[in-house]
Amino acid sequence: MVKIALTGDRPTGKLHLGHYVGSLKQRINLQHEVDRNLVMIADMQALTDNAKNPEKIRNSIMNVALDYLSVGIDPNMSTIFIQSQIPALNELTMIYLNLVTVARLERNPTVKSEIKQKKFDQSVPAGFLIYPVSEAADITAFKANYVPAGDDQEPMIEQTREIVRTFNHTYRKDVLVEPKGIFPPKGQGRIPGIDGSAKMSKSLGNAIYLTDSADEVQRKVMSMYTDPKHVHIDDPGSIEGNVVFTYLNIFDSDVEQVAKLETQYQKGGLGDVKIKKRLIEVLNSFLDPIRQKRADYAKNIDYVEHVLQDGGKKANELANKTLKEMRDAMGINYF
Ligand code: TRP
Repeated sequence: MVKIALTGDRPTGKLHLGHYVGSLKQRINLQHEVDRNLVMIADMQALTDNAKNPEKIRNSIMNVALDYLSVGIDPNMSTIFIQSQIPALNELTMIYLNLVTVARLERNPTVKSEIKQKKFDQSVPAGFLIYPVSEAADITAFKANYVPAGDDQEPMIEQTREIVRTFNHTYRKDVLVEPKGIFPPKGQGRIPGIDGSAKMSKSLGNAIYLTDSADEVQRKVMSMYTDPKHVHIDDPGSIEGNVVFTYLNIFDSDVEQVAKLETQYQKGGLGDVKIKKRLIEVLNSFLDPIRQKRADYAKNIDYVEHVLQDGGKKANELANKTLKEMRDAMGINYF
């Protein structure tokens, strides 16, 4: 069986460590395991709640592309492309919309919570409500078997599976493939913000970006939430909910050293500044090669554009092929 993976991100800014832990890391590994790894910059989806601010999306596309390349998504192993360059996706979306009820869309838990969070109230854009259907088009157009993504994408993948079954059943042909989500191991897919809140996000202003300079990283780590009850160095400190230790556990490859620091911190006698200094070192040595690669690619934007165009060409071939099979199955192939 040919193994195909597809995933994507809305280009609404730069990517941060939350993106890395939640899905970039898995995608980078997956490149070696699948026959085709597709990575999509989901500008059409980003427009569903940014229709009045297209420049933001436009400006973010290059940022996200640079983030991808610098973090190790390799165009020799992956097809990187921009969603709006693939017209067939819109046609697939339109076909699927007839196979989904409005009630089902309104029940999608991720969309529901986003609607609340974005304070749409009574003015939810129709395009926003139906974005899970467009996401189903993204996934199925390439017959992806795998979708490496964060937990919040699980409802989209479930909805995609339903659409696939409905389509194949309704038009009596197994044209579409049911995808499987690939999620980070339990408890490892999410990184808290530097302020200690559960999720790192741009809107909460608590993110460390892949593009942050060494100084910014230092400043952010020094302001990081630790244990408010750990006032004096000699006080016993808590590891639970202590963001510095959470990060060390994810990024510090010296596991024994981290365990030692934890024991010492819990006993008392280890100051916050010490553990923060260690984290600054660890994060900067993780980010340094990424920064270096990014600077190199940024000097060669023509190459990056070429990668996106080339990816778009391949993606169009694949999506058009699926669309043709669908039209044939439905009998809307008149001439
Ligand atoms: N919904 C994803 C996000 O919020 C982006 C996305 C669009 C996507 N299409 C996809 C993810 C298909 C996985 C598969 O960033």
